[in-house]
Amino acid sequence: MAAPTPAIIKLCRLLLLLVLVWGLFEQPKTCEAGKSFACNPKDAATKDLPFCRATLPVQDRVRDLLGRLTLQEKVKLLVNTALPVPRLGIKGYEWWSEALHGVSNVGPGTKFGGDFPGATSFPQVITTAASFNASLWEAIGRVVSDEARAMYNGGVAGLTYWSPNVNVLRDPRWGRAQETPGEDPTVVGRYAASYVRGLQGNDGNRLKVAACCKHFTAYDLDNWNGVDRFHFNARVSKQDMEDTFDVPFRMCVKEGKVASVMCSYNQVNGVPTCADPNLLKKTIRGAWRLDGYIVSDCDSVGVFYNRQHYTSTPEEAAADAIKAGLDLDCGPFLAVHSEEAVNKGLLKEVDVNNALVNTVTVQMRLGMFDGDRGSYARLGPKDVCSPPHQDLALEAAVQGIVLLKNHGPSLPLSTHRHRTLAVIGPNSDVTLTMIGNYAGVACGYTSPLQGLGSFASTIHRWGCADVACANNTLFGAAIDASREADATVLVMGLDQSIEAEFRDRAGLLLPGGQQDLISKVAAASKGPTLLVLMSGGPVDVSFANNDPRIGGIVWAGYPGQAGGAAIARVLFGITNPGGKLPMTWYQEEYLKNLAMTSMDMRSNPSKGYPGRTYRFYKGPVVYPFGHGLSYTKFILSIAAGTAPTVVGIPLDGRHRASQINTTATVDSDTVKAIRVTHAKCSRVSVSFDVDVRNVGNRDGSHTLLVLSTPPPQDWAPHKQLVAFEKVYVPARAQRRVRIKIHVCKSLSVVDRFGIRRIPMGQHNLHIGDLMHSVSLKPATSLGLGVIKS
Ligand SMILES: *[C@@H]1O[C@H](CO)[C@@H](O)[C@H](O)[C@H]1NC(C)=O
Ligand SMILES: *[C@@H]1O[C@H](CO)[C@@H](O)[C@H](O)[C@H]1NC(C)=O
Ligand SMILES: *[C@@H]1O[C@H](CO)[C@@H](O)[C@H](O)[C@H]1NC(C)=O
Repeated sequence: MAAPTPAIIKLCRLLLLLVLVWGLFEQPKTCEAGKSFACNPKDAATKDLPFCRATLPVQDRVRDLLGRLTLQEKVKLLVNTALPVPRLGIKGYEWWSEALHGVSNVGPGTKFGGDFPGATSFPQVITTAASFNASLWEAIGRVVSDEARAMYNGGVAGLTYWSPNVNVLRDPRWGRAQETPGEDPTVVGRYAASYVRGLQGNDGNRLKVAACCKHFTAYDLDNWNGVDRFHFNARVSKQDMEDTFDVPFRMCVKEGKVASVMCSYNQVNGVPTCADPNLLKKTIRGAWRLDGYIVSDCDSVGVFYNRQHYTSTPEEAAADAIKAGLDLDCGPFLAVHSEEAVNKGLLKEVDVNNALVNTVTVQMRLGMFDGDRGSYARLGPKDVCSPPHQDLALEAAVQGIVLLKNHGPSLPLSTHRHRTLAVIGPNSDVTLTMIGNYAGVACGYTSPLQGLGSFASTIHRWGCADVACANNTLFGAAIDASREADATVLVMGLDQSIEAEFRDRAGLLLPGGQQDLISKVAAASKGPTLLVLMSGGPVDVSFANNDPRIGGIVWAGYPGQAGGAAIARVLFGITNPGGKLPMTWYQEEYLKNLAMTSMDMRSNPSKGYPGRTYRFYKGPVVYPFGHGLSYTKFILSIAAGTAPTVVGIPLDGRHRASQINTTATVDSDTVKAIRVTHAKCSRVSVSFDVDVRNVGNRDGSHTLLVLSTPPPQDWAPHKQLVAFEKVYVPARAQRRVRIKIHVCKSLSVVDRFGIRRIPMGQHNLHIGDLMHSVSLKPATSLGLGVIKS
């Protein structure tokens, strides 16, 4: 480990301070198993109060409860460690729990031990995203919330989980790339909505657990070149906000119906996000209609007062945050300063009430005021780490693994021909590395060495002492092993010492001597050399891609508790890999002219600025977004007569085509487009059928990615993902997949003023190697919808 940097020392001081301040509060008593949070049916004094009556409408119960609280009691409920109100039979509650890819003990609300020694640890999100399988994402959410409810019933977990992380992966160096579903805003949004639905359940307005989409917004920077997230002011254009940063959050709130959104530490255009009424009140709650609460990142309010000096007194900071729309503070700040803010007239008690309405409503929807009558009461220890849950962790890892290269082909290995394996590398026998950050305690692990050991006899050599691979002391033994074995598997890559929260990467190459070890082993090995990479962010492995001695390259991300079993199943062909990269794998040179602090998504050729993600960057890459090979071959075709070539866009009643200003003048570029707000969006989509034929002799899943190139303008992405579907096709069989493209959402582009418009003219749809053109034009007032020709 490196010596602690000044930033880490500062952070430790901050944490110490927080612990001291928290110590001033009475800690909430941990709920005992089976005892209710409030409205205990044995408590005669409270059980008949209106707020305890499950038959009354939630809003009436919330109003009744707030009417009984004093201001002093209320302000102590504005923070994650909410105090009890004993005279009303309400216990303390710790709001902060995490469940990014399994129930986690990163937040203080959840603890392992006793009846709950661990929980199912799914692959890190970037791996699960690579499956491009939305039903898998929802299934994982269902399992995680079963385990969370079981642990809540056992008194060791909360019901409010501050997951998922839905920041778009804008820069490949971000230490938290691993937590995200990648770089495409709509994939991130679809992941968010699916995972949130899995977590929150499907029981009307009631919540199984409450999820939280974070960190709003423009947040993907931890600590780069002397700039940290606590001081970073992200300068974001209206255009990038609308078509990149907002997209996943909007989908999470509107489609996923998430119960919470978290604002971030950084400023956006000079205003801390947790103090910005435009972001919180106007956008999240107003435009998107959040039914839930807005929470700060941990001590965000303290950060914008103490470190950003955004206000001159702490009371102003508290008032600004609550008036902007913040409902809950992770950290003590609002409990300490809100009462005085009211006394000074900076804040009204009704503002505090409005915040509490949002948090208490979520608690009511969770059943926390229903006494013992809660749903999900049957869930207990037997439902955590159960065999089907652990099977799903393996399944998720298998579905997320991406085959990057298969020269020869060298893969899959065969148990007949490859009886001995040299298993080499700093990640070859790891456990914790496989679960990445924001993890819990796993049920158990299968390391790569163990997984491969069930298919062949193994000769294990570390090769490097750790991923930093500071010297070549261990190279000789590794090279010798590869000379003896029938095949060599190198398990290399990164871990939390290279990429993590607080730690962005400086470059994209493998650390230390890893590259050298891989090349030397490949040159010496008797049999095929296979490279398995663990990492969250992309790695520039051009050298291995170009080395003919390296037969296969597989990316496993951080594959979770069953990662080693999944890797072995893929290498030996028990399952056919079907994962696709959810992010671009750039070359190291890409970073040459690219400050991590530059938020612009679009390229700027005059300044040598390359642009970000596959939507705006056109230069050379190691592997593109969506790359992923299979052991079989799929051939695609559009089913005859199903795809329209001309589509009319119906206009709303208030705008006739002739009255519409379809000309947006952007620089010198004049385009014809219809504002999305002027179109009858529910009536217009482009649908067609794609036949997927598996012409190989192995069963497999294929991910159909449909990308669109809009009519050219310099401000539109040169392509963007407009639909994806995953389909399983047995060998020599064919499956038909219906593709439906929502024109307003997917074929629209955003102009420089942040206005979403549907460009008229030819949109080219790319489906694998296929291309199909659709021409969009304003429909006549006769109500012409889709014209087929
Ligand atoms: C090689 O690196 C390892 C791990 O960093 C270290 O323990 C060892 O002392 C180093 N050996 C030499 C010869 O530098
Ligand atoms: C049409 O829109 C452009 C760009 O928003 C604006 O500059 C122009 O004045 C508008 N024209 C009319 C007739 O409203
Ligand atoms: C998607 O995931 C689900 C859940 O694991 C699985 O049942 C289904 O087969 C997967 N779909 C494809 C096409 O692989």
